[in-house]
Amino acid sequence: MEVSLPVTIVGAGNVAWHLAPALENVGYPVKEVYARKTTAASRLVKRLYAADIAEDLDFSQSPSRVFILAVSDSAIESIAQEIVLPDEAILAHTSGSIPMEILSFAATENYGVFYPLQTFTSRRRIEIESVPFCIEASNEGTREALLALAGSVSGKVVEMNSENRKVLHLAAVFANNFTNHMMKISSDIMEAHGFAPDLLYPLLSETINKLMSIGPEEAQTGPARRRDYRTLDKHVELLRENEDLLRIYRTISQHIADTYLDE
Ligand SMILES: NC(=O)c1ccc[n+]([C@@H]2O[C@H](COP(=O)([O-])OP(=O)(O)OC[C@H]3O[C@@H](n4cnc5c(N)ncnc54)[C@H](OP(=O)(O)O)[C@@H]3O)[C@@H](O)[C@H]2O)c1
Repeated sequence: MEVSLPVTIVGAGNVAWHLAPALENVGYPVKEVYARKTTAASRLVKRLYAADIAEDLDFSQSPSRVFILAVSDSAIESIAQEIVLPDEAILAHTSGSIPMEILSFAATENYGVFYPLQTFTSRRRIEIESVPFCIEASNEGTREALLALAGSVSGKVVEMNSENRKVLHLAAVFANNFTNHMMKISSDIMEAHGFAPDLLYPLLSETINKLMSIGPEEAQTGPARRRDYRTLDKHVELLRENEDLLRIYRTISQHIADTYLDE
């Protein structure tokens, strides 16, 4: 029987919170968690069977084979240069936008990317089996190990180089971050006028369901697609004292109108 490689997680934020127990559940023992704040590390360790809190980045005596950097994008490079690894260790980061080669200065030839394409927030339940994992590796052994790791956690694993992952991440920012921010704006407008924001939730869930079933181009409705200028002007009038929202409203409405110019 194949033995699952032991894992160390560096970082104790949103991704680590989900990834560490998910790996244990499919048989990859998490041996250590390192975080600058020991309170964050101990919160995560409590969710695991037998992980220790690592005090520093010297893992020369570690029993782990796979070291996952689930840390802020800006910290990946410096940690990769500082981390001390045991022989044959595999080092991977979990970022959508950071190139794999940033790990090439680490003290191992075995490095790669283990990017889960999902939005993670600590303590929120997530079905990790359906999260796509994008894998990239510096050599064949690392590739096989990371594919096996991802394939145990999720039913959807794709190999992707850093250039393509960057493009995917850009698309994900539009799909997730911008959609979410639109809902933040929408909720603020609702609250400012005394409406409960959840009045919009049935509309939001049908928006998502519809675009997944017929595609976003066909699913688009609203005054901008119809070029209904009377309604657009009324909305502009409501936003006249908020320059930022006015700019956003006009830019997106114009882009929608241009998209359907030939109708
Ligand atoms: N959240 C998502 O939805 C998501 C999805 C896919 C991929 N990712 C990627 O996964 C990685 C982790 O994201 P996250 O959302 O889990 O981030 P996060 O919740 O902000 O957690 C970041 C972790 O990195 C640690 N850290 C930051 N700077 C550090 C440094 N200089 N040295 C040591 N530790 C440092 C933080 O520790 P402190 O608390 O001490 O600062 C914290 O434990 C990122 O590369 C991100 O792009 C995130």
